[in-house]
Amino acid sequence: MTGPSLIVAPSLLAADFARLADEARAVAADADWLHVDVMDYHFVPNLTIGLPVVESLRRASDLPLDCHLMIENPDRWAVGYAEVGAHNVTFHAEATADPVALAKDLRAAGSRAGLAIDRDTPVEPYLELLPHLDLLLIMMIKAGFGGQEFLPELLDKVRAARRHAAAGHLELRIEVDGGISEETIVEASAAGADAFVAGTSVYGAHDPAEAVRRLRHRAEQAKVGTLDAGGSEG
Ligand code: DX5
Ligand code: ZN
Repeated sequence: MTGPSLIVAPSLLAADFARLADEARAVAADADWLHVDVMDYHFVPNLTIGLPVVESLRRASDLPLDCHLMIENPDRWAVGYAEVGAHNVTFHAEATADPVALAKDLRAAGSRAGLAIDRDTPVEPYLELLPHLDLLLIMMIKAGFGGQEFLPELLDKVRAARRHAAAGHLELRIEVDGGISEETIVEASAAGADAFVAGTSVYGAHDPAEAVRRLRHRAEQAKVGTLDAGGSEG
């Protein structure tokens, strides 16, 4: 695997949108990626930011941008995010008819290609597509809003994807998004996730940078098996 063994990606959805550059800076020394949730009022019943803001963030921060597109018709819009310099562009399986073609276009435009699976979508139909992808984002909530409760039963999808990836696609990142806290990150890491999006637990914390460090520490511990899932340190 190239790059760090695990990734912590604070989600700007829980940040102050009037101070995005400052909020990015607050985690710059500790985070691996900056997770940017793009929503269009159609794919999900919420609206956030789009291409011009992502382009500005690209200039304002050195952190790789992890763009999560919760939008309809990503075939039309996703490549634009790669073209403005997003590190990862992740589109939803539910929104496109041909994920492999779109992944190919994204890679050709210079970004990594991610596929996201929402709460009610099974992962099995997509396992065969993993060699065409750099990242698989598995929602731990229903996409659309931050601050929702983590649904542990969805970790079965992470386990299935990790088993499949272990058989030949070791570079694949498996990212979990939604309800990640110091407790739930332990379960998600033990299930095989290696990239963790955290909105509320980072930007809702008094010290976002310290929150990122603590999340990483917990995920690392879970990986080496020194913590039981859901357990806590003594
Ligand atoms: C929700 C977004 C998430 C969101 C997670 O649809 O995809 O990235 O920011 O927020 P928390 O960490 O608060 O669940
Ligand atoms: Zn997200």
